[in-house]
Amino acid sequence: MEKQPSVRVAWTPADVAALAGQDLSRSLCVAIDVLRATSTLTTALANGATAIIPAAELDEARQLHAANPGALLCGERHGLPPDGFDLGNSPREFTRARVAGRLIVHTTTNGTRAVRACATAAETVIGCFLNISAVADRIRARASDIDCLVLACAGTFEDFSMEDALFAGALVEHLGWRHPIRSLWAGRTGPLEMALGLTRNGRRLKELGLREDILFCAQIDTTPILGTVNARGQIAA
Ligand code: MLT
Repeated sequence: MEKQPSVRVAWTPADVAALAGQDLSRSLCVAIDVLRATSTLTTALANGATAIIPAAELDEARQLHAANPGALLCGERHGLPPDGFDLGNSPREFTRARVAGRLIVHTTTNGTRAVRACATAAETVIGCFLNISAVADRIRARASDIDCLVLACAGTFEDFSMEDALFAGALVEHLGWRHPIRSLWAGRTGPLEMALGLTRNGRRLKELGLREDILFCAQIDTTPILGTVNARGQIAA
């Protein structure tokens, strides 16, 4: 029978930030920001982006873009693209026509921080509903050589976010592993797009006229592509 490593959930941005100071050398981390950063990163890679450089701050993103002039500068603050950016953080913008063959510099409020906080993990993968089976397959493949699966839920503003916790529950359910977070997924009611739309982040996206992004991010298993963080700190498939 497959070995089950321990499962830890970083529920809030503060929990996620604390990962940066911990020994994650025997952990596989899943960075989760369903609405929308990890859904967008996965879509960019599925549509042929070569790699993504996660930048914590706007200034850092602009500097990285200046150092990589062929790259696309992408991301959000308050849900919208900052001045001078090529693309925002809507997965619908990251079409094959826009991103195939391109390097991307990406900065978002919480998603980027989650990816970077996991930097010292044995492996960090980018998880969302769009590629949940690919995420589960990678975890199963690594189960015998890690001690811990860390589910890094990026959160909304400084708080817990239900959409990330729902994904974490769905993932553990998919794996068939023991952890009480499965009950969150099992206890959902209605279609996933409705559950995502009722979250704080979902309501904010609707206020911004971005309801379509919620529908996009609620799709399950549209791609087998899995983003992982490489030794240079870039995300690639
Ligand atoms: C984040 O990183 O905080 C989110 O992805 C925000 C968003 O998509 O607007």
